[in-house]
Amino acid sequence: MIVGSSGSGKSTLLNMIGLLDHPSGGKIFIDGTDTTTLSDDRISSFRNTKLGFIFQFSNLLADLSVLENVLLPRQIGGTDGTAEKDAIGLLDTVGLRTQLHKRANKISGGQAQRVAIARGLINKPSIVLADEPTGNLDSVTSETIVQLMKSMAKKLNQTFIIVTHDRQHFGDVDRVITIKDGKAFEGDQPSSKMEVLV
Ligand SMILES: Nc1ncnc2c1ncn2[C@@H]1O[C@H](COP(=O)(O)OP(=O)(O)OP(=O)(O)O)[C@@H](O)[C@H]1O
Ligand SMILES: [Mg+2]
Repeated sequence: MIVGSSGSGKSTLLNMIGLLDHPSGGKIFIDGTDTTTLSDDRISSFRNTKLGFIFQFSNLLADLSVLENVLLPRQIGGTDGTAEKDAIGLLDTVGLRTQLHKRANKISGGQAQRVAIARGLINKPSIVLADEPTGNLDSVTSETIVQLMKSMAKKLNQTFIIVTHDRQHFGDVDRVITIKDGKAFEGDQPSSKMEVLV
């Protein structure tokens, strides 16, 4: 989990890890690859195969069905025989098995965020990046989404990197990094005793 006050650079960090932004200095290693040196082609394929994204606003395409929205990132690399089965499996896990063919503009905010989680996982990414995934939800729905992400992370053996203001909803997580004044600190609260990471 990445925490820190507004404007500290959490989204910037996440966007650089996600290869949506390029750092003006330094290097970023993912699974041993320095992603700052990849060509544009390699960036696209790296992003598609290794990374999944979940944002604060689910950004579903309103005219497509729930199922079609989840399938979209999978179709970028060409269609394959198991895509639909995988998408239905994920939608089942997030509790939307009965809503597959509903149009995305006909479902609630919490349901839309669950669709966004399924969409973020459809390419079987090893790392899932989530920027304020519960930022737009009421606290009961946030709780459901948080528990869902935690159980998916365990079940699918994926790493979730979550930026949030919503520290208390998440309970125990494996690691917390606090961003403050352009520096990353290990742990919950930046203090003079904390280890500076970057
Ligand atoms: N390391 C950095 N170097 C240069 N500019 C940075 C850096 N980190 C953040 N910024 C700039 O600071 C501003 C705020 O950063 P960002 O949006 O990442 O903050 P945030 O922590 O996600 O804030 P919020 O909690 O409000 O979403 C942006 O304009 C971003 O470009
Ligand atoms: Mg942000």
